[in-house]
Amino acid sequence: MQRLLINAGPIAHLAGDGPIIGNVEDETAHVLESGLSILVDGFTIQKIGPTEELLSEFSQAEILDLEGKAVVPGLVDSHTHLLWSGDRSREVSWKQQGLSYREIAKLGGGIAATVNPTRSATNSELAHLGIERMREALRNGTTHLEAKSGYGLDTDSELRLLSIAEEVSAIERLPSLDLTWLGAHAAPMGASIDSYCEEILSEQLPAVLEQGIARSADVFCEPGWFSVEQSEDILKASRDGGLDLRIHIDEFADGGGGDLAADLQVSTADHAHYTNDDARAAMHTAGVNTGFLPGTPYSMGEDYPPFSKCLENEWAWTIASDFNPNCRTLSLPFIGSILVQRNEISPIVALAACTRNSALSTPHPSGLVHGQIKEGGIANLNIIDGPWWESWCLQPGHSPFAATMLEGELIFH
Ligand code: NIG
Ligand code: FE
Repeated sequence: MQRLLINAGPIAHLAGDGPIIGNVEDETAHVLESGLSILVDGFTIQKIGPTEELLSEFSQAEILDLEGKAVVPGLVDSHTHLLWSGDRSREVSWKQQGLSYREIAKLGGGIAATVNPTRSATNSELAHLGIERMREALRNGTTHLEAKSGYGLDTDSELRLLSIAEEVSAIERLPSLDLTWLGAHAAPMGASIDSYCEEILSEQLPAVLEQGIARSADVFCEPGWFSVEQSEDILKASRDGGLDLRIHIDEFADGGGGDLAADLQVSTADHAHYTNDDARAAMHTAGVNTGFLPGTPYSMGEDYPPFSKCLENEWAWTIASDFNPNCRTLSLPFIGSILVQRNEISPIVALAACTRNSALSTPHPSGLVHGQIKEGGIANLNIIDGPWWESWCLQPGHSPFAATMLEGELIFH
């Protein structure tokens, strides 16, 4: 089926190869002027051109008049902890008393506090939570998201989370998923990190590989959780098994994870809040993306990571939601607002960080280009409820989108 979106406002298409790096001096290179139309055939974008021209050439297509509404690519959330049950709201008072994330974990809060309710939830309860969260993400313009396991912390529970994630990923009219195994998220209650690492290497990882659902592996490499050496063992074994690599590093302190990320040439090293400059430069040279997750310091009442360092040095970077029980947002427009309205990052740079750039570490299952509006690419895009493309990140607390096109299907919000 052909669909023709006519009379578009500005189209912030972001089309091109590789990541957008540095400050964007000339936005016009990434934004098409008003008055164009987009022809969609099936689930791909076929043509972008002047409205009159496309209207006469494709008169049989189903027509939707955008009446000057601005268009941006479907957003790509490259870091989420999608499936878990429970509620950690009580931790807010501990945070306000000045307790650190590590102190809260020692009191029985944190990751371990989410494991029990997650293990006790039924498959259908977890699937329902996943579906509701994917709907919420879609309402906020996300057309594809990475989703990690990590609240099972034993072989059966981790396999179960991956299998439920696979099940919900097959549901139509929801964002597509890229699945990551994060068994190395924390030690389960009563186990040491050392003994759990042995279990991961001897039992959990082989089972995950045999199950064949996860595309990538991830480790929480942080002082107090998995050491650089333990992270290296787990990631190398995962790569040997055919998995792509991601890593959580330096969320609360510089623990040396940046050098490991560079050595292993992982796809993306996320948080990277306290990473030292040499390690950042090494990551850049090794082709490793820096995945900033500003929703987490927002939730914890902390300062933001140094986005401008990546801008000045022209290092590739992304933003993502890090949706988890400690950071309960699935709105990339809200994360964009943190950058633009709190950190002086321009809307086009923030948009690239959660579209074209994040798509590079988080491929679409079709293998087609996404995160940009381009002929031949997947037809994932957002129609803003207004004429300004910059508005994508200027309405914290509200979705700026009137509709989202998901693999060629229009979904009105
Ligand atoms: O990326 N810090 C490690 N993992 C998550 C938080 C998990 C949790 O607190 O439940 C993160 O922020
Ligand atoms: Fe995370």
